[in-house]
Amino acid sequence: MVTTPPEEVSVSAGGSREGAASSRPALVVTGASEGIGLAIASVFAAKTGHPVMMIARRSEPLEAAARTIADRHGVTTIPLSLDITRADASQIIATTLAANGLHAEILINNAGVGLGGEFAGHSEAAIANLVDLNVRALTLLTRHFLTGMLARRSGGIINIGSLGGFAPGPYQAAYYASKAYVASLTRALSDETAGRGVRLCVVTPGPVETAFHARMGANESFYRKLMPAMAADAVARATWRGWRMGFRVIHPGLFTPVLALTMRILPWMLLVPIVGWLLQKRYASNT
Ligand SMILES: NC(=O)c1ccc[n+]([C@@H]2O[C@H](COP(=O)([O-])OP(=O)(O)OC[C@H]3O[C@@H](n4cnc5c(N)ncnc54)[C@H](OP(=O)(O)O)[C@@H]3O)[C@@H](O)[C@H]2O)c1
Repeated sequence: MVTTPPEEVSVSAGGSREGAASSRPALVVTGASEGIGLAIASVFAAKTGHPVMMIARRSEPLEAAARTIADRHGVTTIPLSLDITRADASQIIATTLAANGLHAEILINNAGVGLGGEFAGHSEAAIANLVDLNVRALTLLTRHFLTGMLARRSGGIINIGSLGGFAPGPYQAAYYASKAYVASLTRALSDETAGRGVRLCVVTPGPVETAFHARMGANESFYRKLMPAMAADAVARATWRGWRMGFRVIHPGLFTPVLALTMRILPWMLLVPIVGWLLQKRYASNT
């Protein structure tokens, strides 16, 4: 069943132990209309049976994705067309959940954007959008919903980082830095909240076959030719397994843990030029 969000409802923010008694647990997935977010929404909905709130900006693909998951897994889906960089995004999400008698049991902060090419060549607007989405929105949603989870002593947050969070990334500098932030924030909060009934974990995929790379013009980089890309479904299944096993860091696939370890061991004076070599746009068009 696909339900439609109401126009306007008033409710308090992250939730409380009392509020949870009368509401049902739900999954909240940002960037759920395609790619990794859609795959995670599908796997987590199937495994938990919880209603899933699916968030993205463009309503048509989002509603189609919500119908597919509802039909396939027999769960309630709530497509919410929302730009999560809006200042009131957390409030809108909480309000829509409450209007459906739900609270956020698992928040999956997946929506993210890349930016390929020389840093100095990017517009200020593009950099601001990356920081707003990958850093600011993720942090504020984490803060907002973590309070309710702590009050209920239940649930958790899965932040989608990247293998790129383990090293500086010349030619995707702001993106790699944003993912280092995601890893650092999540690891710190998982420690800070240990033993209080909630879990936080960060997922660190290497390349995944989605439209993400084309969107930032990175298909012209060597890494797209030289590094195998995982399927989004495989990342989602690995995320579920890692979450169930209580991992704080989930490296999906066989290749990613090896690369993550290598990136930790190699001194940056060797690692950073190699990463830059892989990320620099190469081909004749180079637009
Ligand atoms: N693909 C990879 O190789 C890879 C590797 C490591 C980590 N990751 C990370 O995994 C996450 C998902 O990547 P992906 O490859 O699945 O990306 P994608 O295919 O480009 O999908 C991005 C999703 O986010 C939504 N979105 C974008 N901006 C938004 C906004 N302001 N508000 C709400 N929703 C927004 C998009 O829908 P709308 O455009 O309609 O809003 C879409 O549903 C990102 O955090 C990315 O950094 C990706």
